[in-house]
Amino acid sequence: MMVATTEKNMWAVELLDAAKTYGKTIQALRGVNVQVGRGEIFGLLGPNGAGKSTLVKIMMTVIKPDRVRGTVLGQPVGHRATMARIGYLPEAHRFPAYLTGAQLLDYFAALAKVSRSDRRGRAARLLERVGMSQWANTKISKYSKGMLQRLGIAQALMNDPDLVVLDEPTDGLDPIGRRHVRELLLELKAAGKTIFLNSHLLSELEQVCDRVVILVAGSVAKQGTLGELMQHTLEYRIVAEGDLSKRDGEIKRLGGRIDGDTITLDHQNRAKVNEVIDLLRSGGHLIESVTPKRFSLEDIFVEAMGHATTPDGGIPMGKPVARPS
Ligand SMILES: Nc1ncnc2c1ncn2[C@@H]1O[C@H](COP(=O)(O)OP(=O)(O)O)[C@@H](O)[C@H]1O
Ligand SMILES: [Mg+2]
Repeated sequence: MMVATTEKNMWAVELLDAAKTYGKTIQALRGVNVQVGRGEIFGLLGPNGAGKSTLVKIMMTVIKPDRVRGTVLGQPVGHRATMARIGYLPEAHRFPAYLTGAQLLDYFAALAKVSRSDRRGRAARLLERVGMSQWANTKISKYSKGMLQRLGIAQALMNDPDLVVLDEPTDGLDPIGRRHVRELLLELKAAGKTIFLNSHLLSELEQVCDRVVILVAGSVAKQGTLGELMQHTLEYRIVAEGDLSKRDGEIKRLGGRIDGDTITLDHQNRAKVNEVIDLLRSGGHLIESVTPKRFSLEDIFVEAMGHATTPDGGIPMGKPVARPS
């Protein structure tokens, strides 16, 4: 489906100041902003309990937020006609076990008002695409967790959506299944779709996301394009001979840390590294090795979890902190 040219908003999804309290005390979201560019793969990442599913459910109008502003595909959150242009894989989905995979796809697509003729061909194509063709006529009650997940992804694509929202799409999949999901995401992106995915797992997704938000305890701990997040993530290690502790003051001034025969320079550029090398060589130290180490998104994630603070100054944990009454 083409994106209507009347949609001026450059974001496929823009949610602003999203907040949700469950009951009286569980602050699942504390005023979160996310922006997803059209045609991007967006990753909402964070540990279990961070509030990822809550944000997705607000966008999908499954739950009512305390507050939220913003747009989805250029329309206010909850706009009825726009919902038909979104495909959604909910977390921990439970499909009627007495249906077969093919019946389930037909059923959901009928609910989404996909015509009967489109449903047939599309169901077969999507079952094929997620490697489930041979199970099409088997009852869902017989499916493994991985098979359920594949079916769930096919279900989310039955209405040929412009925006695909996948809550933990690799949940229950083995490494090969995860790779298939990655490939499918790239295929969907190439077909012009916008993808919004939630995940508490990183290594498999950092390769495909254009932009990520890291959510910790209901607040955004870090965000940006992968390029932005990875910009200051180079560390250098210099190993040299001789007693380095004599150089401690000078090396500290250059931003280095000495540990035995190793000097570590955090977030430093090449010029600084060369200054340290000059210093060492002029002091008669032989350089053994210089090694750059680039951090993965996972390292950044761990750092974000350690450094983030909640608005009330609390220590973030996997679970949101109860609001003081
Ligand atoms: N229906 C609910 N009632 C009460 N608390 C909930 C409910 N749903 C989620 N929570 C709590 O809100 C927090 C955020 O949950 P969730 O959005 O599911 O996080 P995530 O998807 O990042 O794992 C968690 O502490 C969770 O226990
Ligand atoms: Mg979740």
